[in-house]
Amino acid sequence: MAKKMPKIETKLTHLGLSPKENFGIPNPPIYRTSTILSESLAQHRGEIPKKYTYGRVGTPTSDAFESSIAALYGAECCISAPSGLSAISTAILSVAKAGDHMLFPDSLYGSARRFVVTMLPKMGVDIAFYPPRIDADISTFFKSNTSLLYLESPGSLTFEIQDVPAMTAAARTKNITTMIDNTWGTALHYPVLALGADIVVEAATKYIGGHSDTNLGIAAANGKHGSELRRTAIALGTCAGPEDLYLGLRGLRTMKLRLSQSAENGLAVATAAKSHGAVISVLHPGLPSSRDHAIFTRDFTGPCGLFGIVVKPEITQASIDAAIEAMSVFYIGDSWGGYESLIKQAHLTEKLRSLRPDLPEGHIIRIYTGLEHCDDQIADVMTMLDGLSEGL
Ligand SMILES: Cc1ncc(COP(=O)(O)O)c(C=O)c1O
Repeated sequence: MAKKMPKIETKLTHLGLSPKENFGIPNPPIYRTSTILSESLAQHRGEIPKKYTYGRVGTPTSDAFESSIAALYGAECCISAPSGLSAISTAILSVAKAGDHMLFPDSLYGSARRFVVTMLPKMGVDIAFYPPRIDADISTFFKSNTSLLYLESPGSLTFEIQDVPAMTAAARTKNITTMIDNTWGTALHYPVLALGADIVVEAATKYIGGHSDTNLGIAAANGKHGSELRRTAIALGTCAGPEDLYLGLRGLRTMKLRLSQSAENGLAVATAAKSHGAVISVLHPGLPSSRDHAIFTRDFTGPCGLFGIVVKPEITQASIDAAIEAMSVFYIGDSWGGYESLIKQAHLTEKLRSLRPDLPEGHIIRIYTGLEHCDDQIADVMTMLDGLSEGL
C-alpha cells in the first residue's frame, strides 16, 4: 500500500521531537545558552564545521520549533523572533533597500503600520496603502521600483479577505516579492505559500502559543527569500528566547483542537449576534452572508475565533462602555488566540486607516472567542448587545 502523507493532527504531535537524542524523553530540552564551546581553535575559527556557533544564531531549541513551522508551511526556511511584530519587521527588512516602493493593505495590523510608516521612509523606502479588496487590480499600484506587496487576509479589525492567488500572480509577473501576515488563518487553515505568497509571517503569540503567556513570531519562505530571511535575522539579532520557543513548540501539540473549538465558538456567537437589533453587520468571512465568503471557502479550510460586530452608529459611547464592562465571560483586552475570550472596541483612527470610504459605518466591537462553553459566550454577548439597545 502506498504510504499516505500524515494528517495535520499527526504532524502536530510528532514535529520537532528527538527522543533518540534525548534519553527517550519526547519533549526536546530547553537549551539556555549564549556560549557554544569549540573543541579547538581551528573549529572556533570555522575551519572545522560546527553545527551550532552562538546562542543567538541557533540552538536545538530554536531548530525544533522553526523546523516544525517550516514543515507545516512546506517551507525550506523558518526564522523565529521575540514577537510577531519583530518577525514582520525582520521579514520586511529582508526585502527592503533604499529606493524601493512597497505596498501595504489599508487594513494592516496597527503596530506593523507604525513600523512601516515610521521606519521605512527613513531608510529611503517609499510606501503606499491600497484598498484590501482590490484583488488583481493591485497591478494598477505597481511602479517600476515596487519590491514588496504585503498582504494580510483577513485584514485587522475590518476582516476583509484578499484574493491571494490573484494578487500574488499579478506581483509575480513583475518580479515583486509577496509577503502575508497569516496570524488569523495559521498554517492549519490557510496554506498561503501554496496559494502563491513568497513569505509568510505569523504572530505565534496567538494560536501557536495559545495560552496568552508568550510573545513569539515566525517568518517562513522558500529559496532565496528563505536565505534572505535567515541572513537578515542574523544581521539584526532577531532571536526568540528559549522558554518562548519551548512554549511555541508545546502549543503546536494542542493547536488543532484549540483552534477548531475557538473557531466553532466564534461562528456560533457571530451567527447569534447577526440578528440582534443593535447590530448592523457581523465582520466574519465564515458567515455565508459575508461578501468575502466565496473566496474564504475557496482558500481557507476554516476560520478562527476572531471577528467584528458593527453596531448602530447612534448607540452612545457611554452605553457601549457600560455594556462591555458588565460582561462576565469576556475579558476586556488586546491580543487573541489564547484560551480566554476577549473583547474590545476598535477605533479606526486616521492613523490606522487612510482610505476612509471603505470603512464600515457604526461602532466596531472586536470579539475573540476562547474555550469557555459557547452557550456562556453567546449569553454574555447577547446580554451586552441588549445593553446597547437600551441606549438607542
Ligand atoms: C494580525 C497580527 N499580526 C501580528 C501581530 C503582532 O504580534 P505580537 O503581539 O506578538 O508582536 C498581531 C498582534 O495582535 C496581530 O493581530
